[in-house]
This record gives sequence, structure tokens and C-alpha cells, in this order.
Amino acid sequence: MEETGNIASLAGHVAVVTGAGRGIGAAISAKLASLGAAVALCGRTQKPLESTANAISKSGGRADVLQCDVTDLRSVEAVAAHVDRTLGRLDILVNNAGVGGFGGPLHQLPPESWDQVLNTNLRGVYYCIRAFAPIMIRAATATGVCRGCANAPRSLAGSWSSGADPAVEPKFN
Ligand SMILES: NC(=O)c1ccc[n+]([C@@H]2O[C@H](COP(=O)([O-])OP(=O)(O)OC[C@H]3O[C@@H](n4cnc5c(N)ncnc54)[C@H](OP(=O)(O)O)[C@@H]3O)[C@@H](O)[C@H]2O)c1
Repeated sequence: MEETGNIASLAGHVAVVTGAGRGIGAAISAKLASLGAAVALCGRTQKPLESTANAISKSGGRADVLQCDVTDLRSVEAVAAHVDRTLGRLDILVNNAGVGGFGGPLHQLPPESWDQVLNTNLRGVYYCIRAFAPIMIRAATATGVCRGCANAPRSLAGSWSSGADPAVEPKFN
């Protein structure tokens, strides 16, 4: 990553952002693209992903739309294979996709909703790390970003680093 003043240029870098169709994921995607990264925009719904991609293109950035359900390992693996094949590297993974916002008390939450939270916010993060980490380790500049929980990325970093060359150990910011 090249430093230009206080701002790091991400030219030549590739980022994957999950949940990139709206909200925080769309904003992170736009920022990464503005710094020069090619951004793979992931989410279940095509249309909002296309809006994010169009906004990035209009600003002169590069973004690819890749439909993906992070609760489905095959879907995540298909996107990882596509990124590897078409972009040839991966430097940044933003595990942003998530569900939440249920306002009521936990004892009133239906079990299906609890399953959806765990499958998206925990299993989905694991699936993405499982599918994308090998490509990132090859790129040797890997940075992983997990939303929400400060401890989760650290424990995952431990697993990642156990078999990896310390020189390319992923960093969590
Ligand atoms: N906003 C907050 O105040 C806040 C606070 C703490 C944590 N967070 C976390 O930060 C993240 C972003 O927040 P936000 O407010 O921007 O959320 P948001 O507006 O609800 O957007 C969530 C994004 O995740 C995608 N998504 C959901 N399930 C998915 C799945 N199974 N596979 C792929 N993509 C999926 C959604 O797209 P599709 O539905 O099209 O797939 C959507 O683009 C979330 O993980 C949220 O839990 C937010």
C-alpha cells in the first residue's frame, strides 16, 4: 500500500465488501474505490448493488457486482473463485453483511430470526474468511475488516495465522 501524505493509495488493490448494496457497506465500497481499489460488491439483491456500482463508476472508480448470500458456503465460494479468476488477487475483505435491528426482548425473538442472525453475522463471516483468506494470503498485503465485534476478528486472526507465513499474516483494522 502506497502512502501519499496521510492517505494510502489502494491503486492496484482489490477489495471485497459484503452487504455493499446500501448503508455502511455502500459507503465503505465508495471510499475504497475512491482510494483506487477495484471493489467487488457482494449482497443478495442485484439492484442495490448496481446502484452502488453506478455511483462508483460515475466517480471514476471500478466496481463489479457479485450476487452472494453469505449464509450459503457454495455461494461464497463461487464468488471467491470468480474474484480469483477475474481480478487475480484480493487485498481487503470487509465482512460487513449482517442482520440486526430487532428491537424487542430476546425471549420474544422467534428461533428462526435467531438462526438468521447467527447464520449471517457469525457463520457468514467464517464462510467469507474460509473462502477468501487463501487468495488474500497469496496477495501478501491482506487486511480483514469485521464489523461489530472487536474480539471476533482477533480470534479469527489467530486461526488464520496458525498456518500462514508471518510475513503475510492478515492484519485487522
Ligand atoms: N447501522 C448501525 O448502527 C450498526 C451498528 C452496529 C453494527 N452494524 C452492523 O454493520 C453492518 C452494516 O450495517 P447497515 O446499517 O449498513 O446495515 P443494512 O443497511 O441493514 O445493510 C445490510 C447489508 O447486508 C446485506 N446482507 C444481509 N444479509 C446478507 C446475506 N445473507 N448475504 C449477503 N449480504 C447480506 C444486505 O443486502 P441484501 O439484503 O441485498 O443481501 C445489506 O446490503 C451490519 O452487519 C450491521 O449489523 C450496524
